[in-house]
Amino acid sequence: MNVAILNGGGDCPGLNAVTRAVTRVCIHEYGYKVMGIRNGWRGLLEADVFPLDLNAVSDILIRGGTILGTSRTNPFKKEGGPERVIANMRDLGIDVVVAVGGDDTLGVASRLYKEYGIHTVGVPKTIDNDLSGTDYTFGFDTAVQIATEAIDRLHTTAESHSRVMVVEVMGRTAGWIAVMSGIAGGADAILTPEVPVTVEEICDFVNQRTARGKNFSIVVVSEGAKLIRKAGEEKVVIASKEVDEFGHVRLGGVGDALGKAIEKITGHETRVTVLGHIQRGGTPTSRDRILATRFGVKAAEMVKASQWGMMAALKGDDIEAVSLSEAVRENKTVPRKLYDTAHIFFG
Ligand code: F6P
Repeated sequence: MNVAILNGGGDCPGLNAVTRAVTRVCIHEYGYKVMGIRNGWRGLLEADVFPLDLNAVSDILIRGGTILGTSRTNPFKKEGGPERVIANMRDLGIDVVVAVGGDDTLGVASRLYKEYGIHTVGVPKTIDNDLSGTDYTFGFDTAVQIATEAIDRLHTTAESHSRVMVVEVMGRTAGWIAVMSGIAGGADAILTPEVPVTVEEICDFVNQRTARGKNFSIVVVSEGAKLIRKAGEEKVVIASKEVDEFGHVRLGGVGDALGKAIEKITGHETRVTVLGHIQRGGTPTSRDRILATRFGVKAAEMVKASQWGMMAALKGDDIEAVSLSEAVRENKTVPRKLYDTAHIFFG
């Protein structure tokens, strides 16, 4: 059996841990051959692969990024794309593709299985944690850790200068990173895409703190949160209108807009920090290394068991196989109850 692994979408700490685990189990336990596909689905369209052996995956467990490379290529957006994937798989002798990605990459894996019978197995990756079917995706814990550390650091400088600090974090249409890092870092207000909060309400939290003698505030805002004004205007702030092959615009800039509005309304000096790709870079936390390793081991077991069109998923303490099409059906957003827990500490 020839197994090929690809990474699609934004990179994420833990990708190499998955590659290592899949490769080791496939070679060691089952005697399969393993290949790496370069740059996501683009590598399958261009027949760009290389062999993976035990040495190729040693010493990569703790490394951030991906030794395979990644892209946001969508074969369904290319003329004859799926047919090219099939032809290249046949020519390269690939029997199974283990696709490691978020909803876009795994959506392609699901369609290739359902519509073309291609043997695919999925592994859930994204710092955004917005994938259904699994309790958590790997990479998320690292992103939350990085954001929490940033909030901790901003606290001391905010206090020294009596400022409001706005921190913009990633997450696309889900506020997971904002809510979790906000709870962990003791944010004084959090804006997410899920819960509409006006700029004026955020300013009320800042003013409440001032009235209590607190000279600084930390506001965490998720990149996909709407900027809503009491007067009724609302907008999602985007960095670029250009859409990728999955139809996503580039988000970014809500922090700046919010910071300006807070300064204007409250009169407090305000600074904005955009964490950006720092949240995706560097070494994974131990939790992500473990989760990614467990996902990789399960993916290899699923290959052995011919569980095509399925994804390794965390369910409680167990790693289980779930349907890929179910997992990509809708984004997993932050439950209201969790947001409400964070809200108790606002102001
Ligand atoms: O999907 C992960 C993610 O980090 C999102 O949170 C963010 O909007 C996006 O990727 C940014 O990706 P890039 O700048 O790499 O296109």
